[in-house]
Amino acid sequence: MERAVRPFRVLTLSGSLRAASSNTALLEAAAALAPAQLDLALYRPWGELPSFNPDLEGAEPAEVLHFRTALRDADAVLIASPEYAHGVPGAFKNALDWVVGSAEFINKPVAAINASGRAIHAQASLLDTLAMMNADVVVAACRTVALPTNKLDRTAMLADAGIVATLREALHALHAHLLSLELSTGS
Ligand SMILES: Cc1cc2nc3c(=O)[nH]c(=O)nc-3n(C[C@H](O)[C@H](O)[C@H](O)COP(=O)(O)O)c2cc1C
Repeated sequence: MERAVRPFRVLTLSGSLRAASSNTALLEAAAALAPAQLDLALYRPWGELPSFNPDLEGAEPAEVLHFRTALRDADAVLIASPEYAHGVPGAFKNALDWVVGSAEFINKPVAAINASGRAIHAQASLLDTLAMMNADVVVAACRTVALPTNKLDRTAMLADAGIVATLREALHALHAHLLSLELSTGS
């Protein structure tokens, strides 16, 4: 019943810190296409996190606590990350490392959209990391958009029928998963 008044909160994370990032633009396009039942909000400040150091656990900097709270408050997480040297960008992996021990990803519904048809290594590595963190990886919502170039902005993406269709499929699958969880838990 509560769902009628509050959309699901979906925290989106772009694995690129680049100002003109195609991954960020893809998440912005997804936010524009999201049905009213999904509220997508981009979390940018993960780029300000210090280098992960297990010695700081228990005395974490404020940026870390802010990141963890944002994750905890989200009903789901949607990630779009580029591939650097066949892996997830180090800066983004650093952000994920900060939440391995603190457990915000445990059972958290998470999907990853891959903006490149070539970047198969980073997507696989990201999904492996999320599975290792016991996230609830929503495979049906993990799609490859295969952008023709990384120069497209949000507006250009929204004008492309193929990109729009793939993003809508991903959002629909994520929404369906959240609804099924809600039905099964009765919350
Ligand atoms: C340091 C670096 C390493 C990269 N390594 C790869 C790679 O291994 N495989 C790949 O498909 N693209 C690679 N790329 C290309 C990026 O994935 C591509 O530029 C992507 O669009 C960047 O995402 P963004 O537009 O969101 O910033 C690399 C780019 C950089 C800057």
